[in-house]
Amino acid sequence: MNRVMIPPEYFVRPVVARVQDFLDGGTDNYAADRELARDLVAVAQWLRGSVRINRVHGARVLGHLARELGIDQAIDLGCGLPHDEHMHVPDAVRRIVYVDSDPVVEAHARMSLTERTGTASLLADLTDVTALLSAAPIRRLDHDRPIAVLLHDVPPWLDDDTARTTLQALHARLPPGSVLSLTHATGDFAADTQMQHLAELYREAGIPFWPRNRTTLAMLLGPWTLPGDRGLVTTAAWRPPGVAFSQPLSVHTWLDHSHAYAALATTGERTT
Ligand SMILES: C[S@@+](CC[C@H](N)C(=O)[O-])C[C@H]1O[C@@H](n2cnc3c(N)ncnc32)[C@H](O)[C@@H]1O
Repeated sequence: MNRVMIPPEYFVRPVVARVQDFLDGGTDNYAADRELARDLVAVAQWLRGSVRINRVHGARVLGHLARELGIDQAIDLGCGLPHDEHMHVPDAVRRIVYVDSDPVVEAHARMSLTERTGTASLLADLTDVTALLSAAPIRRLDHDRPIAVLLHDVPPWLDDDTARTTLQALHARLPPGSVLSLTHATGDFAADTQMQHLAELYREAGIPFWPRNRTTLAMLLGPWTLPGDRGLVTTAAWRPPGVAFSQPLSVHTWLDHSHAYAALATTGERTT
């Protein structure tokens, strides 16, 4: 196993995975993370709810894909620090590879998520899709069958060019029938300049953050096919295709604290 040296400043600067851990009531965070998180919440009180909704969404989508579409293998790209919803993955999901480029996050994932049979973790930069797909834990998935790829709250931390080329490469390289589950922060439903203010706070802390509107997001998805009936909806409003919008799942979904779009996109028909 490769040893990764963690620079000392890693622990004194905020890191997005730890900021989110704090926002969702976790304890894997440090003073710098908590300070930034409190500044963010002062601007947007819904932020804690937004993190919660996004986390609940992961297990729901995996369950839907496994039970309804028979896609029982998944790659969780930018998995973040382990949390309770990681433990709610349905049994129907047989294999998951958790991927993160943050070595401490990946170490946590390896220690606590890979206890479950069929799971593995991988330290990798998801934007290098060729290297990612040739890594051993990913090669061990069955590439003759569709794979679910979760990209939950990750592209907002990638610039436009990187996000677009990564999404294109995943589309071109994943087996036919594979499904991309995306969640993405947006300012489309926030008050005035609230999301812009959040982005400034993140940037001042050394964390570039690009929330995107519906049009930009649809363009970034490029070759991916969105189902006609739903397309982009907020994460709180997302339901499996064919299931009616009914009772809200929690107070956060009732008030729609997601401030993010969710999409389930497919590789569609291949022309090559
Ligand atoms: C906001 S967290 C989202 C965590 C989780 N997906 C969720 O929905 O709760 C973003 C995660 O993406 C990871 N990340 C950011 N850029 C990445 C990259 N280029 N390659 C792999 N992971 C990346 C970060 O380290 C962080 O853990």
